[in-house]
Amino acid sequence: MNLKITVLSGDGIGPEVVAQAIRVLNAVGRKFNHTFEFDHALLGGCAIDATGMALPPETTAKCQAADAVLLGAVGGPKWSDPRAKVRPEQGLLGLRKALGLFANLRPVKVYDALIDASTLKAEIVRGVDMLIVRELTGGAYFGQPQGRSGEAPHRQAVDTTPYSEAEIARLMHMAFELARARRRKVSSVDKANVLATSRLWREVAHEVAAQYPDVQIEDVLVDACSMYLIRSPKSYDVIATENLFGDILSDEAAMLAGSMGMLPSASLGEQLNQHGYRRGLYEPIHGSAPDIAGKGIANPLATILSSAMMLRWSFGLEVEANSIERAVEQVLNDGLRCKDIASQGTRVIGSEEMGAAVVERL
Ligand code: IPM
Ligand code: MG
Repeated sequence: MNLKITVLSGDGIGPEVVAQAIRVLNAVGRKFNHTFEFDHALLGGCAIDATGMALPPETTAKCQAADAVLLGAVGGPKWSDPRAKVRPEQGLLGLRKALGLFANLRPVKVYDALIDASTLKAEIVRGVDMLIVRELTGGAYFGQPQGRSGEAPHRQAVDTTPYSEAEIARLMHMAFELARARRRKVSSVDKANVLATSRLWREVAHEVAAQYPDVQIEDVLVDACSMYLIRSPKSYDVIATENLFGDILSDEAAMLAGSMGMLPSASLGEQLNQHGYRRGLYEPIHGSAPDIAGKGIANPLATILSSAMMLRWSFGLEVEANSIERAVEQVLNDGLRCKDIASQGTRVIGSEEMGAAVVERL
């Protein structure tokens, strides 16, 4: 297969972790006889510096022309003045919207070798294997009106959380389809005791659920969910929720796995690529980590695992995807760690060595 990938390295540790994912993908290409074509473009702070825009039109065009997009991270203190007119994060949100990426898949799998890296007790996190399916192009992230008005002491600000039944239904269909390939349970997370959007969410979720009688559905209020996530995380299979709740819960869930440096993600929409699979955006869930940028110590495993998700969802290459995931597991079993997941008795290595170690085990 000839796989066309647009690469958005972004800011901070983005370029360092992306370089290792590319290295792993090239190794997969050699082993399984695929050709990767990487085309780089600017997004986020680096794009603001070069063009004044967080998402230059050229970047959108390149992503639309690609089969899939690989992203590092965007943002950093240089661009984080809350009064700035252009912010790196706008680039990411704009890209999600432009590509119609309405579903964000965030698998949280706790590796046995990393049980001790979690701040939670081993018996709580051992065996955790859940998939958060977060709505990504609606809700408070995009709702209008949004903004502020007035002068002190009468300053005001407003955000709006709109959801249509079509937006909820397509996300729930995705969640139920995914649950069918797993343990067949969907936990729909909302705040239906307070929010009107959540009451619509719950209603539509159950209408969709009726079309999947083989999958169990449960409703969980978001505040309770945040508690269950650290009390009994093993009870979750697929969690389906709106944009803002999903953002918050997925960072919390990341800590079950020990570090944000381990968690990949896939953002999918309805558009198909030339291979007939969904064109997706693949990125680690961690940020640009400006404090460690340029030091060569960032954990590239989340980005490497994101590239495995890319092979699976945008190219249908299940065997290749599994081989990356197995290689990562092997590296961990062999006691190799980046700093974020280091524990006693393990060997701490840098980003490049970690990339090389995965390639070696492929
Ligand atoms: C994420 C991030 C983004 C979000 C930020 C960088 C805009 O936190 O992907 O979870 O809030 O969606
Ligand atoms: Mg987030």
